[in-house]
Amino acid sequence: MTKRPYVVDEMISAKSIAARIEALAQEIDREFADTDKLVVVGLLRGSFVFIADLVRELHLPVEVDFLEASSYGDGMESSREVRILKDLRSGIEGRDVLVVEDIIDTGFTMSHVLHMLRGREPRKLKVIALLDKPTRREVEIKADWTGFEIPDEFVVGYGIDFAQRNRNLPYIGKVRFTD
Ligand code: IMP
Ligand code: MG
Repeated sequence: MTKRPYVVDEMISAKSIAARIEALAQEIDREFADTDKLVVVGLLRGSFVFIADLVRELHLPVEVDFLEASSYGDGMESSREVRILKDLRSGIEGRDVLVVEDIIDTGFTMSHVLHMLRGREPRKLKVIALLDKPTRREVEIKADWTGFEIPDEFVVGYGIDFAQRNRNLPYIGKVRFTD
């Protein structure tokens, strides 16, 4: 399946992403203005580029931590069963937490992660997703901030992969098979 030939068509340019992140960071700065140290939690691996750019636009004191949930494997379909592969290093009880995700698709991953994190009783728990595919949703979940709503297309780049490829593209593009 991963051998099937495809090309990537640009969908969201690096420049648009940067502009959107700047605007989102201002809103996040305002939302957490009274925090002593915001815990920014990136969901591995897809959010690694987004979180790096986002935290550099924030003026708040931040701590960066990562969580890894099981994902698609090598395919294009959600497994629907979410497992935690790597947990946070820090405790978050009583703290302000911002979860950073690349894409919310069916919603299973985020719903599972939020349920787990809520159980740890943070003071405030918010979610930012770079991309949202609302038409694919199977679990009711909405990010507090979304970079871009996109149609039901399989996308790559800016940290997001197809079978572990294309994470290093500086833009978001959609996969188009050429066979
Ligand atoms: P959900 O549990 O279906 O919401 O899946 C969310 C996760 O699936 C995201 O964090 C991505 O890792 C992955 N995913 C969803 N859509 C895409 C896509 O278009 N390209 C690559 N990965 C995707
Ligand atoms: Mg992911």
